[in-house]
Amino acid sequence: WRQLFLFGMLALFLAGCGRENLSALTPQGPVAEMQFSLMKLSALIMIGVFVVVILIFTYVLIRYRKRPGQDGIPKQVEGNHKLEILWTVIPFLLLIVMAVPTVTIAFDLSKEYTNKDALVVKVTAHQFWWEFEYPDLGISTAQDLYIPTGKKIQFDLTSADVMHAFWIPALGGKMDTNPGDSNKMWLQAEKPGIYYGKCAELCGASHALMDFKVNALEPAKFDEWATAMKSAESTPATASAQQGQQIFQKSCLGCHAIGAEGGKLAPNLTNFADRQRVAGILENNPENLDKWLADPQAVKPGNLMPNLNLKPEDRKALVDYMSTLKVYQP
Ligand code: CUA
Repeated sequence: WRQLFLFGMLALFLAGCGRENLSALTPQGPVAEMQFSLMKLSALIMIGVFVVVILIFTYVLIRYRKRPGQDGIPKQVEGNHKLEILWTVIPFLLLIVMAVPTVTIAFDLSKEYTNKDALVVKVTAHQFWWEFEYPDLGISTAQDLYIPTGKKIQFDLTSADVMHAFWIPALGGKMDTNPGDSNKMWLQAEKPGIYYGKCAELCGASHALMDFKVNALEPAKFDEWATAMKSAESTPATASAQQGQQIFQKSCLGCHAIGAEGGKLAPNLTNFADRQRVAGILENNPENLDKWLADPQAVKPGNLMPNLNLKPEDRKALVDYMSTLKVYQP
């Protein structure tokens, strides 16, 4: 009972993880659907095996229980060729039933990867954020991935530091991102909407905070977004924002890029004000951005953002400037 209770609590706890569009059990695209069909098949087979074993177990308990008047050790049976063959052949057949669709789908997925019409996205995982580059479109972004619906997206997955894993449960996955190596995977979203992604490989202190967001847009809107990203220009209007821009150029541009200008060590911030979250985890508002700038380690332990020790009024200017980094509202 104690174990059952603990198990029940664990199930309740895990049920709490069911955020909208963050579940492999509600597939939203062809890859996720194929993977879900395999999950259903293996779950069905496992439930079948469980039920048959429990039925036989219960039957044996009752049928061969000790009855009044029975004494001593009952007849001992050693070896039974028929039974042994039976319980070897049945699992073998069940494994074949699982293996055939699994291998077929695995080959289908790898064959589909080389699709000429697909949009290529290069994904680079970093401790603890995601970099997204569109080599054919000449744009880069971070944390929020934008994709068109109804189109295959080819992902080239790599890492800048340690092993991470790229996973968008509702669309499919997951696949490791390894330093110095490129893994390939494709996904497709059918409906426009927001899907959530996670790092699925323990990668350091803030592994659990390494979330990202997928914005699936209608193809026409995606093109609008891509065009807006290419021609993005920030024109801070207020004096405070202009001062913030100067601070940014002096202290931040070495690592963070805006448009094509700047470093690649830290997230590209071209469309920062369009993002739902600061550092991938806090709601994107001025208070939280100020909190992040004041002490990045307190928000996301182990990340590489240095504490710039800015004066509160400089942080305010920087926050004002970063709020102007809007590119596209679908
Ligand atoms: Cu990156 Cu876990």
